[in-house]
Amino acid sequence: MNMSEKLMHAVQYDYYGGGPAGLKHVEVPVPVPQMDEVLLKVEAASINPFDWKVQKGLLRPLLPRKFPHIPTIDIAGEVADVGSGVRNFKAGDKVVAILNAVNGGGLADFAVAKENLTVPRPPEVSAAEGAALPVAALTAHLALTQSAGVKLDRSGPRKNILVTAASGGVGHYAVQLAKLGNTHVTATCGARNMDFVKSLGADEVVDYKSPDGAALKSPSGRKYDAVIHGATGIPWSTFEPNLSENGKVIDLTPGVSSFMTFALKKLTFSKKQLFPLLLIPKGENLDYVVKLVKEGKLKTVIDSKYPLSKAEDAWAKSINGHATGKIIVEP
Ligand SMILES: NC(=O)c1ccc[n+]([C@@H]2O[C@H](COP(=O)([O-])OP(=O)(O)OC[C@H]3O[C@@H](n4cnc5c(N)ncnc54)[C@H](OP(=O)(O)O)[C@@H]3O)[C@@H](O)[C@H]2O)c1
Repeated sequence: MNMSEKLMHAVQYDYYGGGPAGLKHVEVPVPVPQMDEVLLKVEAASINPFDWKVQKGLLRPLLPRKFPHIPTIDIAGEVADVGSGVRNFKAGDKVVAILNAVNGGGLADFAVAKENLTVPRPPEVSAAEGAALPVAALTAHLALTQSAGVKLDRSGPRKNILVTAASGGVGHYAVQLAKLGNTHVTATCGARNMDFVKSLGADEVVDYKSPDGAALKSPSGRKYDAVIHGATGIPWSTFEPNLSENGKVIDLTPGVSSFMTFALKKLTFSKKQLFPLLLIPKGENLDYVVKLVKEGKLKTVIDSKYPLSKAEDAWAKSINGHATGKIIVEP
């Protein structure tokens, strides 16, 4: 049977706003892969704050470009079909992929991914562990290796790193990846997650609601060479006294004030700087983090799993902002 004539279950929304109640369960045609795309039978998808920020219209008018929109972009699946130009995959291959941010498509039985953003998933990495990786692990990897200059082979000078929101999707990977490098890692999280974050390898952990945590102070008095900042609402005046002479804040959740601080620090030739970060995903880096999971050097921690039929509950859990690790949806 021609796959494009087949219908599949999907979850989509038709307008901005609406939160979990805006998600609708529908039957739609299975997408058709273009020349450089693979069609995947979805085995697991993960939800990122990015997904519901798009629904809220925070990236309007860039995303989504049209309605209805099937959200989420992190998936693991099995190749069901390939476009005519695809060389590296065939039907039956198990993979992890990051979908096109404009088109989304992850909350469905099938989705199409670009071949160059699709990587093999070895049997040691479960579908859920794989689907959790793309946005969160690639963001942590990019922030550490490119923005903070940490070398994950332990070469390079020792750096003091602060990871905020270390119990979240990005943060739990950032702590583990940072510890592959020559680093001392301080992490902030809620009181309930302090043992968990310590178990990821953090050298010291601070409750973000304690006075020292709110002030981002390292218990050992260290100044940070880089802050991987995944929390929100922390002003530059709180970071500034905790940074080393050339310390940098890599802001994963930049707002207007972040861009103003970025510009001001540049214009005044400040040694301490703030850099807003936007993930541009690369297949080679996705392959790298999948291999780290296979080798047991990086682990995915799963907060919760939901069937596709309850995708709105997974959505609500992510919007709630208290996930420990990653939220997974399985068809
Ligand atoms: N710029 C980019 O390209 C990019 C890419 C990926 C992610 N992001 C952004 O990065 C942020 C983090 O993403 P995520 O997937 O890690 O989110 P997440 O999984 O939803 O993060 C939830 C975790 O953050 C913790 N948390 C919240 N506020 C905190 C604070 N002030 N201090 C310490 N911990 C705090 C929560 O702990 P409690 O439950 O104890 O409160 C919870 O465990 C999101 O805003 C996301 O949009 C940006």
